[in-house]
Amino acid sequence: MSDTRFQSDEWKIIETRFEPSRARDSESIFALGNGMMGQRANFEETYSGDTLQGSYVAGVYYPDKTVVGWWKIGYPEYFAKVPNAPSWIGIKIRIDGEELDLAKCTLRSFRRELDMKQGLLTRSFTVVMPSGRVAEVSAKRFLSMHEPEKAAISYSVRITGGAGTVEIIPWLSADVYNEDANYDEKFWENESSASDGDRAVVVAQTRKTAFVVATAMENVFTRNGRKAGEKTAITTTDKTAHCTFSATYADGDTFNVTKYAAVLSSFNHPLEGLAEKAMATAGEAAKKGFEAMLADHRRAWEKKWEHGDIVIRGDIAAQQGIRFNIFQLNQTYTGEDPRLNIGPKGFTGEKYGGSTYWDTEAFAFPFYLSTADTHVARNLLLYRYKHLGKAIENAGKLGFTAGAALYPMVTMNGEECHNEWEITFEEIHRNGAIAYAIYNYVRHTGDQDYLAEYGLEVLIAISRFWAQRATFSQEKHQYVILGVTGPNEYENNVNNNWYTNTLARWTLRYTCEMLDWLKDTSLVKYNSVISRTQLDTQCELSLWKEIIDNIYLPVHHDLGIFLQQDGFMDKVQQTVNDLDPAVRPLNQHWSWDRILRSVFIKQADVLQGIYFFEEEFSEEAIRRNFDFYEPRCVHESSLSASIHSVLAARLHDTERAYTLYLRTARLDLDDYNHEVKDGLHITSMAGTWLAIVEGFGGMRICNDRVCFNPAIPAAWESYSFIIRYRNNPFRVEVNGTKVNVVNLSGADIPLAVYGEQVTLKPGEEKRFGKQ
Ligand code: BGC
Repeated sequence: MSDTRFQSDEWKIIETRFEPSRARDSESIFALGNGMMGQRANFEETYSGDTLQGSYVAGVYYPDKTVVGWWKIGYPEYFAKVPNAPSWIGIKIRIDGEELDLAKCTLRSFRRELDMKQGLLTRSFTVVMPSGRVAEVSAKRFLSMHEPEKAAISYSVRITGGAGTVEIIPWLSADVYNEDANYDEKFWENESSASDGDRAVVVAQTRKTAFVVATAMENVFTRNGRKAGEKTAITTTDKTAHCTFSATYADGDTFNVTKYAAVLSSFNHPLEGLAEKAMATAGEAAKKGFEAMLADHRRAWEKKWEHGDIVIRGDIAAQQGIRFNIFQLNQTYTGEDPRLNIGPKGFTGEKYGGSTYWDTEAFAFPFYLSTADTHVARNLLLYRYKHLGKAIENAGKLGFTAGAALYPMVTMNGEECHNEWEITFEEIHRNGAIAYAIYNYVRHTGDQDYLAEYGLEVLIAISRFWAQRATFSQEKHQYVILGVTGPNEYENNVNNNWYTNTLARWTLRYTCEMLDWLKDTSLVKYNSVISRTQLDTQCELSLWKEIIDNIYLPVHHDLGIFLQQDGFMDKVQQTVNDLDPAVRPLNQHWSWDRILRSVFIKQADVLQGIYFFEEEFSEEAIRRNFDFYEPRCVHESSLSASIHSVLAARLHDTERAYTLYLRTARLDLDDYNHEVKDGLHITSMAGTWLAIVEGFGGMRICNDRVCFNPAIPAAWESYSFIIRYRNNPFRVEVNGTKVNVVNLSGADIPLAVYGEQVTLKPGEEKRFGKQ
């Protein structure tokens, strides 16, 4: 299944060969980001081979006009895409007039390393130029985690085999395009450039959305470690800026350019003076210097690892896999800006447009909740809170009224971007995941004020949606929810998807409970929520209670399972073992109607609901459902295996949990799905974290206490992770059946391990053993 190209290393991803046919794969794997911008691992020097150029700026998007065959009322006008932004990494190298280009020169050696501990990308290679001169290149690059609008590259070239002339030309270009453009349009316009002394800038504006991005550089050149005496010349066109350094070289001379870049956008700054500010920022970086910037950047990463690392002993591949996932999650989202979110491919490619999906709340949220300061998860919730008005508008377009909200399936600014009816209109379960994240946040952080200030407004609007979306069936004398798509997108337009109905009921119940709680806690705050939402506490609440008590949830009594939807048992009952491996993945081999009619499930659906509300079900019920649905699941979404892994661990089947875990842990590093070239699966990386912490570690929050029930895969000697509960960090280490917990905080931490309840004092350490 795996195709590991990378050396085993606990902290690094190392590639020792350059394979042009896999250049795009490596561009994704070695991508860098800092929450504010991202950069695929494109080469600095010219590369005329196949490549997907990608520089991305958080928050900046282009509304690419929708393309559909049959327009349905309610479709959005556009799909928001993160544009490939002006390029800042380029450095042309010409030796005796010949361009250094790995597609054209003879490569003698090549090595690329991503050091995840420090967030540093290095590359070294030796080439023989067509002239016979040998160039040894070494390049280092980072996108500052400390000052996220700055980045730096140190690029050295040593030339042997004679004397001659060399040109080193760092450049910027706004002449960029997206491969994924519905109408082959350029996403940028009004490009311009300027220079000031040693600095240059290119400025470009997104079409229609008018975001302006100013990308600046300042370069410092040395020869054999000393400042080079040659003068440089900056030339600009409307879309580009080049800074040319020309010199003669003697055999064995080494030249270095340090390129300091600044990427500023109107998303964060006033338009006025943006270009000058970008140049000044590049100048500040140059003044500080590469090593000092790198030291700050390293310290910022140290802090992330201090509380976010997972250590696995006895399995280097697993260690490398989980660190890669944690690294990418931190590169994608730092949680400082509630206007930003986590795209399924982060800043590593164009696919999925970099927009927000239910992935954030259902999969990624627990990672940030447990590994970062509380404000990070809060900002993720505020993102949706700020979009509440748009979600109400969105529901309004579909005919819902009176403050009902339907959050978009895919969004950048709160507006729906998705345009396939069976998902846009029917995959309404996404609303439930947003409500669930509020619950998850409050129980984990204890920040109940959030409910009164923001959370209840969202919960009420979502509850209103469920109340209007359910219909009373005269036939069943129960409430039903018709025409939906569950998380299993291999079924569309089904009635009574158990997961959706369960989430609807749960949201209504949780909203009512939280309203009651607030009424008891603070009448003033309660009245404020009621007046802000204009909630009719008579009519609306009584309808909600009626739905809670009378919603239809399909079950199969003989099998003792929840039914994925009405009619599920009419299908030919097969399991994945009955499938010829040659037809996998189904979505690339079977017609869509055949997939829809089949019993095969794309990703956890009933099991997603059991995962969310596990405490409501007995272990036997969980087992029956797992044993029925998992064998029918083809896991053709990268989000699938992790949820199944958590449940298998819950059922004490550690080895099955481990097999499922392996499908997610190195998904991108080993490119199981043969699509890493398009970018990394960022949101499913959080699923891998879940599989360890909630799966093997068995972490749950129960009654204001963090509980663990750890098990360990046979392949591992030990594993440990750090959790923040109520913002207080503690470390859990699992070694066979022994569990060691250390309170790293200054507060008491109530926890339970294997059912033994304790309150750990600040700094206290305690060992637990399985009875
Ligand atoms: C999954 C969705 C998910 C989307 C983005 C799809 O393949 O089925 O659940 O939201 O990918 O990750």
